[in-house]
Amino acid sequence: MKFPILAYGHPTLRKVAKDISPDYPDIQKLIDEMFEAMYESSGVGLAAPQIGKSIRLFVIDAEPFAELYKDMTEVQKEQLKGKRVFINAKILEETGKEWAFTEGCLSIPGINEDVIRQEKIKIKYLDRDFKEHIEEIDGILARVIQHEYDHLDGILFTDHLSSFKKRLLKRKLENISKGKVNVDYRMKFPKK
Ligand code: NI
Repeated sequence: MKFPILAYGHPTLRKVAKDISPDYPDIQKLIDEMFEAMYESSGVGLAAPQIGKSIRLFVIDAEPFAELYKDMTEVQKEQLKGKRVFINAKILEETGKEWAFTEGCLSIPGINEDVIRQEKIKIKYLDRDFKEHIEEIDGILARVIQHEYDHLDGILFTDHLSSFKKRLLKRKLENISKGKVNVDYRMKFPKK
């Protein structure tokens, strides 16, 4: 994979990313390379800041979750299928009840924790052809989008944990930023 994934502690992961226009250099190639990096690291989503590009772009292929969750509706299953590209996305609404789901992140290997978020979103975004869509999405896909969307605002899933949990994880997170972690894909560690 061309781009290493930035590890926890890297300042780019904390920046608020910027919208892009269709003339952004080599955007189609960049999207393909992001999918490549995501598949090679066995992720279901990857946001551009994670490869050092502070732009409002993320890619998702959450189909592996379709196997895990048999109780999804047909609409939810359909929405999970295939490669999805979100450019300049804006979450217009978050509704529904709050639910816990165990999240992980390619920038934070080895840590998986329950995060509570609302179940449904209404999102406006451009696809890879810069065509605008407004979609209502719930369930697992909404969850993956909420996680990736957070990356664009410099937010990581660990930020959503209780202060008690954060204290427990502090040392582990510090070790990740130093590269003291087992990981089988290419990463860039800020404190190594
Ligand atoms: Ni992530």
